[in-house]
Order: sequence, then C-alpha cells, then structure tokens
Amino acid sequence: MKAKELLYQGKAKSAYLTDDPDRLVLTFRDDTSAFDGEIIEQLDEKGAINNQFNAFIMQAIENEGIATHFESRLSATESLVKRLDMIPVECVVRNRAAGSLVRRLGVEEGRPFDPPLFELFLKNDALHDPMISEHHVEAFGWATRDEIAQMHAASLQVNTILSRMFADAGLILVDFKLEFGRFHGHIVLGDEFSPDGCRLWDAKTGEKKDKDRFRQKLGGVMDAYREVAARLGIVFDA
Ligand code: TMP
Repeated sequence: MKAKELLYQGKAKSAYLTDDPDRLVLTFRDDTSAFDGEIIEQLDEKGAINNQFNAFIMQAIENEGIATHFESRLSATESLVKRLDMIPVECVVRNRAAGSLVRRLGVEEGRPFDPPLFELFLKNDALHDPMISEHHVEAFGWATRDEIAQMHAASLQVNTILSRMFADAGLILVDFKLEFGRFHGHIVLGDEFSPDGCRLWDAKTGEKKDKDRFRQKLGGVMDAYREVAARLGIVFDA
C-alpha cells in the first residue's frame, strides 16, 4: 500500500492517506519532543528504531487478543495501520511513581503501586495535557462510559503482558501511555508503544532506559533505546 497525501503531522510521526479509506501509512520521524513540544530535537535513527520497536510490541499485544491498529511494517520507518477515529485522551498506567505523578502528589520516585494506577489526560499541548477523570471524558463526549471501560480494561491487560515481557528482559515497566480510537464502532489501540511513551528502568541498577534520558538531558538516549530493543530480541533493518 502506497502513502499518498499527508493527513496529519504529529510531533514524532506523520500519517498519510492510502488508496484504502480504512488504512493509513504511519511514518516514524527522528523528531523527539519533550514538555508538550517545547523542546524538539532530531535523534539519529530514532524513527527507524521506534517503528520496529512498535511493530514488535503491537504484534505481541495483538497475539494476546487485544485489537490494535497495526497491520504490517512497510519499511524501516513506515507501518501500515488501520485508520481510527482517535479519542483525544491519553490513558496512563503506572506501576511505580515517576514523572508528573511525583510532581503532582509529592510521592517518592519509584514507590510501587499494586494494583497499578490508571489515569486519564486530555491530549492538548496548548493546555499541557491536563489530568481529567472519566466523568470529564463522558461529559465532554470524548468517549462513552462503555468505551472508557474498554480502554481501562485493555490498558491493564497491556500492562500485564508488557510488564512480564520487560521483566524477562531485566527491565521494570514503570509507566506508559496509550491512545485508543474507533474502527467501525470498535475500540482499538492506536498510536505507538515505544520508549518515547513509557518509562523503563534497569531492574538491577535502576538506570533509565527511556525518553527521560532526553527530558533530563542524561545523554545516551538512542543507545538506551537500542539496548532495550536488543534485550527484547528485536533485530533492526538498516
Ligand atoms: P507523566 O509522568 O509525564 O504523566 O507520563 C506518564 C507516562 O506517559 C510516561 O511514560 C510518559 C507517557 N506520556 C507520553 O508519552 N506523552 C504524554 O503526553 C503524557 C502525558 C505521558
């Protein structure tokens, strides 16, 4: 399937229309943003690494019976996906305290949560992605109560699948963000899963292996992404 006109340009990916009205080509770019797009830099090979990382994770999730938009990888940086009607809400699952939760509630970084925390944020850079509740989602009409329940259940299932997968690779899945959409009336996981949208700590040393290396200017961002991929057994195309 060939990419045609640009439909949407996000901060790290671009979506192109195809001849099939139900399919898009996603291109993963090297652009890396932090703080709601306040900082944007190009990191060499990030697009290719995240595209292949995402393909691996989406297939693993799909194999466990969760519907995702992922269809196939087309090239190093492009994937074919279902065209979803996106819900403008970010679903975050937290197994440990980090990031905005630490700032918001003053808890110690690393504090474990069992059961895991589930939070919702409005996807709106201008408003700095404010935290919202399921009541806001329903009242503003972003999703129905039933759709919220499906996103909640799918997010927790993804957490179970991926926490185990990363644990087997010696990594702690601290937290992550998912975005869902509708495809012919069904809730389907969209967007991407990569070290851009999750936190991963080395289980032995606690070293950060995700986009916090970029946000916190720790250096070695792409080396960390490559290391995580290698530990999962992902082999990259050139
Ligand atoms: P937070 O600690 O900044 O709220 O983020 C929680 C997790 O969700 C973290 O792994 C980063 C991810 N995330 C994004 O990737 N994009 C976003 O816009 C938000 C709010 C979170």
